[in-house]
Amino acid sequence: MIIRTPTTLVQKKFTRSLSKYINPDRSAKAIRQKFLDYFIKDCNHHFVRSSPVVPYCDPSVAFVNAGMNQFKSIFVGHQEPKYKKVANSQKCIRVGGKHNDLNVVGSDGYHHTFFEMLGNWSFGDYFKAEACELAWKLLLDVYKIPSDRLYVTYFKGDEELKIEEDLETKEIWRSIGVSTDRIIPFGMSDNFWEMGEVGPCGPCTEIHYDHLIGSENRSSLINKGLFDLTELWNIVFIEYNRNQDGTISILPKKHVDTGMGFERLTAILQNKTSNYDTDNFDYLIKAVEKICSKIDRYKGMYGEQDWNNLDTSYRILADHSRMVTASLADGIIPEQNQKLRRILRKCFCISTDVFQREGLVKELSNYVVDSLGPVYPEMERNIAYIHQIIDYEEEVYRDLQRSAQSEWGELLKQNENLKFLDVLEAPSLIPAYKDLMKLKPKEINGEIAFKLYDTFGLDRSSIDKLARSLGLPFEEKELQLELEKAKKRSKQKTAIKINTLLYQFQKESVPKTCDTSKYNFSKLKDNYVFEPLHVKVLRIIHHDEIVKKIGPDTFCSLLLDKTNLYSEAGGQVSDRGTIQFEKAVFIVAETENLNSYILHKGFLKCKGTYSLCVDSVGTLSVDEENRMSIMRNHTATHLLNSVLKQLKGATCQKSSKVTEDFLNLDVGIFGPKLTTHDIEEVEYKINSIISKRLEVVTSEINSQKLLEYDDIITVPGEVYPEESLRLVEIKENDEVISREPCCGTHVFNTSDIGNISIIKMKSLGRSTVSLSAVTGLKSKIATENASEISDEVSMLQKTVSENIDKPDVLNIAVASLRNKVIASETLMPIYIKQKCLKDLDDISKRVKNIAKVTLNEFIDMEMQNVLDSKVQTTNSNKQYIIHYLRTSMILENVPLQRATKMCKNIPVMVISYTDNIVQARCCVPKQFCTENFTADKWLKESVVKVFDGYVMNVKGQSEKLVCNMKPKRVNIQDWDFLLKHSMSAAQEFVERYL
Ligand code: SER
Repeated sequence: MIIRTPTTLVQKKFTRSLSKYINPDRSAKAIRQKFLDYFIKDCNHHFVRSSPVVPYCDPSVAFVNAGMNQFKSIFVGHQEPKYKKVANSQKCIRVGGKHNDLNVVGSDGYHHTFFEMLGNWSFGDYFKAEACELAWKLLLDVYKIPSDRLYVTYFKGDEELKIEEDLETKEIWRSIGVSTDRIIPFGMSDNFWEMGEVGPCGPCTEIHYDHLIGSENRSSLINKGLFDLTELWNIVFIEYNRNQDGTISILPKKHVDTGMGFERLTAILQNKTSNYDTDNFDYLIKAVEKICSKIDRYKGMYGEQDWNNLDTSYRILADHSRMVTASLADGIIPEQNQKLRRILRKCFCISTDVFQREGLVKELSNYVVDSLGPVYPEMERNIAYIHQIIDYEEEVYRDLQRSAQSEWGELLKQNENLKFLDVLEAPSLIPAYKDLMKLKPKEINGEIAFKLYDTFGLDRSSIDKLARSLGLPFEEKELQLELEKAKKRSKQKTAIKINTLLYQFQKESVPKTCDTSKYNFSKLKDNYVFEPLHVKVLRIIHHDEIVKKIGPDTFCSLLLDKTNLYSEAGGQVSDRGTIQFEKAVFIVAETENLNSYILHKGFLKCKGTYSLCVDSVGTLSVDEENRMSIMRNHTATHLLNSVLKQLKGATCQKSSKVTEDFLNLDVGIFGPKLTTHDIEEVEYKINSIISKRLEVVTSEINSQKLLEYDDIITVPGEVYPEESLRLVEIKENDEVISREPCCGTHVFNTSDIGNISIIKMKSLGRSTVSLSAVTGLKSKIATENASEISDEVSMLQKTVSENIDKPDVLNIAVASLRNKVIASETLMPIYIKQKCLKDLDDISKRVKNIAKVTLNEFIDMEMQNVLDSKVQTTNSNKQYIIHYLRTSMILENVPLQRATKMCKNIPVMVISYTDNIVQARCCVPKQFCTENFTADKWLKESVVKVFDGYVMNVKGQSEKLVCNMKPKRVNIQDWDFLLKHSMSAAQEFVERYL
């Protein structure tokens, strides 16, 4: 029986074995090593280590998906290879797109998100014949795979691309000894390999393996998705490049790119039909069994036989924990890579829902590192970082789970079909669903699907599931059409923006501006020297129009043949400068880089009526002071970035801004929050690096060299150029303090920064913190301010005791110092600022506490005095008190209950006024209460009425007996009048009703 689909797939009886029983010669480790030894020792290839799984210089793929990715620039002819023949095992990730469907991982034994690809490459060296021979020899002679298990395929040609059938390869296989009935042609989808939508590509020949012993020739079943007849090795003849517009062009040289699935090879050599039964995975399944011993063990079942999905869950965890560990080790941040975040969340969900264990993913990452760390040392090196990010993500996930589940739970009550959707994998399902409910659509047409995709960030499979849950038809094709339309729209938009000027420059064949001189500066003794540059005006632009000449004081742009000014890039602002012409000077306020045409914006200054014409020549000088400040700030930004990483472990730069006045770094911190104490430490560390006078070295490297560095700080998601990539390094002896690819301009020595002060810290969401700092003179001012203000604060602290009888004086001193500290023009290190504010708060508290004691004494005395001599009497001889408690203290609150408490058997109303706030309290003992005379009525008809306030009940007591007026702000100029008025109203009320 032939079983075709993973869901109905029944595997042979479970034959899982553990790695320790595997013949060391056939262990995964030995298999990998044999591959490398064969190519490197026996066949003269050079070892190039695996690149990280995140592509640094290629925006066309989200993850490195093949061994050849790191050699792309060699294939397309942009770079020369260092070695012509290389080999390695490359970490690869395939999670959707052209090469993998994430959803099938776990449901069969051979699809993976993370896998290792064993590859050998020839860069313009050997081609088809040798590539086939090398592969065949390794499989047969080294791995001893019987040839009757193998089939080969080749490209049958394509009419549209006008590529003919690859008969050469067919003949090569025949001459090697493969029988004709095992050499089968296939078309574009199977035998033409492409890296992605664009990039190097070419016909390929594949070697397939038949797991069924003694089977007939099964060549007709190749490429039909059988689990026991699978592709093992792909040998690609890279001859073409797929262009943006879909056409194909011929590459300058022919190359070989091969890739063999290491996990599949291991399964074959260990005689397993599922990769999960080999020692590449079984240690992970075993680890889950050990950690979660209460859960049923793994049985190796698939499809319907895995009725409760338990084995699939084991496999998903085993697969995903490798992917997660590899991605994190290479610095991918889940917050910025939704695929990785989804996979992590799926793991967290399975860990708790199926295996009832929080923290399982982190535990498994240790096992992955144990197994793969010796091959990929970055995993070992970054283990703490990996843990920190997993912990952080799990915490975010659990929080989300709590909040989303309750909201989702409510929605589930409305529509129980929603239970098939996993809101934690895609939390935006909640707003998306609510939005859909408002629309009440009859189908998810292209437009709606696009909104779900674009506004709510749902992917195709979530949209499909949502549509199915709601019973609404959805055609994925329609979404695709909308996406293509959107792509076109955005292209048009950018095209329009730069269109007119650019179009004209290009039409008139104006050469682009050469700006390499922006790096032309040197240091002589202690002085920086910026070379002036002779420049020529190529075009003058005024109000977006090209003009022939321009007069003085008119804002315009000059397009020059070359420039030594920096244009905004990499967060660094553009330079300012001046162009000295024969009879005038042009003040450059800023520059703008328009697709390498650099516009110098500013105006002309001259005496008289001189006009500047096209073709004029002049001398362009950078505003040196301005540039120096920018350079100090930029180098300091690098130091801030690396010191933060060193202190907080898992951090990543989100954005930066470097200007002449300040530097700003927004950084994600995945772990304990940054405290003021941390800031103090960071500032201290940077200042000590500055004082060590370390050299700042800038060099040019290419993308291949970039991959050789381990300790490089990159910006996640940033795409770096393949060539002429500038690397900025600060080292102390051999220790790298900072190493970043960066196109900005930097000082030559850390000591030139002078000093740094971190002056602002702001939280932007859960993980991001925004830091601003100043350097040089501004930092000096900040330090001086800090010491001056700190001195004033401590002086004030010291005088608190001796001025305790003058709380008003102290309060005014605190307020004025506080204003000084928080004033935006006061530059000051943030940690000192916060310390000063805390000290000032403490002083305030102390003054208040002392004032409270004094006030209490005052109230007691005053009320006693009232009781003794100032009790009023009504016409009918009834006694009452209406009293204004006059205090001079600046307090938020006068404790009026203390005053009324002293007047136990007498109706009493007290009023106070401090800090522009009026308060009033009123008590009527029970024996005086009548229908008309109650505390609330008394208050309402007097003070509350006059001040237009509210009566506030006292908790647990009847408002008839006691109530307050809600404190109310009253202007000082109205006070006397209103007080008098309210007191006489109170008196009238008593006279009438008591
Ligand atoms: N690039 C080809 C593949 O990924 C061969 O390595 O299959």
